[in-house]
Amino acid sequence: MEVVIVDHPEQVMADIIADAVTGGASTIGLATGSSPLGTYTELIRRHNEDGLSFVGVNAVLLDEYVGLPTTHPESYARFIRDNFTDHIDIGDVHSPDGMAPDSKAAAQAYDHLIGTVGPVDVQILGIGSNGHIGFNEPSSSLTSRTRIKTLTKKTREDNARFFDSFDEVPRHVITQGLGTICDAKRLALVATGEGKAAAIAAAVEGPLSASCPASILQWHPHATVVVDHAAASQLKDADYYKYVYENKP
Ligand code: GLP
Repeated sequence: MEVVIVDHPEQVMADIIADAVTGGASTIGLATGSSPLGTYTELIRRHNEDGLSFVGVNAVLLDEYVGLPTTHPESYARFIRDNFTDHIDIGDVHSPDGMAPDSKAAAQAYDHLIGTVGPVDVQILGIGSNGHIGFNEPSSSLTSRTRIKTLTKKTREDNARFFDSFDEVPRHVITQGLGTICDAKRLALVATGEGKAAAIAAAVEGPLSASCPASILQWHPHATVVVDHAAASQLKDADYYKYVYENKP
C-alpha cells in the first residue's frame, strides 16, 4: 500500500484518474460523499481547460440509498451527476437501483453488471469515520459482494448534514461489497481532516479486520491512500511514508 501525505490530495487523486483515463482505462469507479469533491472539481477543470477527455470511459458508483429516487438531491446517482459526470464527456454511469421492488435482486444484478463492464481500472474511495468504504459498515465480510446493508447510527448521524433531519436519512443501502471493490485493478482512497485521522490510522496501520472495513486495502495488490496532514496525524510511520513518496524510484 502506498500512503501519500500532501497539502493537496485532490491533485494527486486527479493525477491518478487522469493517468488511468489517458492510459486507456475503460471503466472508472466513483465514490460520493464530500471527500472526492475536490478531485471531481479538479478533473472538471482539466476537462475544460486542458482537454482531458473521458470519451470511451464508463463509470460505476459504489453505493446508493434504498428508497431515494434518482431525482432526490441526496440520491448518489443524482449527486454524482450534479458534482461530476454532467460536467464531463464520460459515457454510461451505472449505479445500484435503490428504488427496485426487490433490493436483494437489484444488488445481485448490480454486482453482475460490474463484472460485465469491469474490471474497474481505478476505484475512487472515501472513508467513513468508522472505517467504512462504500457503505460496508464494520463487521462486513471481507469477501462480501454487492448487497443490502443497514447503516449504523453513527453513519446516519454523519450523513444527516445532507438531509433536513436525521429521520430522513435512509436506514438501508445497496453497496458494492468489499470483495466487489477489491476486484478493481487499483484502489485510490482520499481522506482529509482531523475527523478521519483515527479511521485512516486503523485502515493503514491497524490489523486487517472487518472491524475496520477500509483495512481491506492492505490486502489489495495496488492500493493508494492519499491524505492531507490532518488526516495523517495519527499515523505512526508518517515520516517513512513521506520519505518513500519523496524518493519514489
Ligand atoms: C458515505 C459514503 C462513502 C463515503 C463516506 C464518507 O456514507 N457511502 O462512500 O466515503 O460516507 O463521506 P464523506 O466523504 O462525506 O466524509
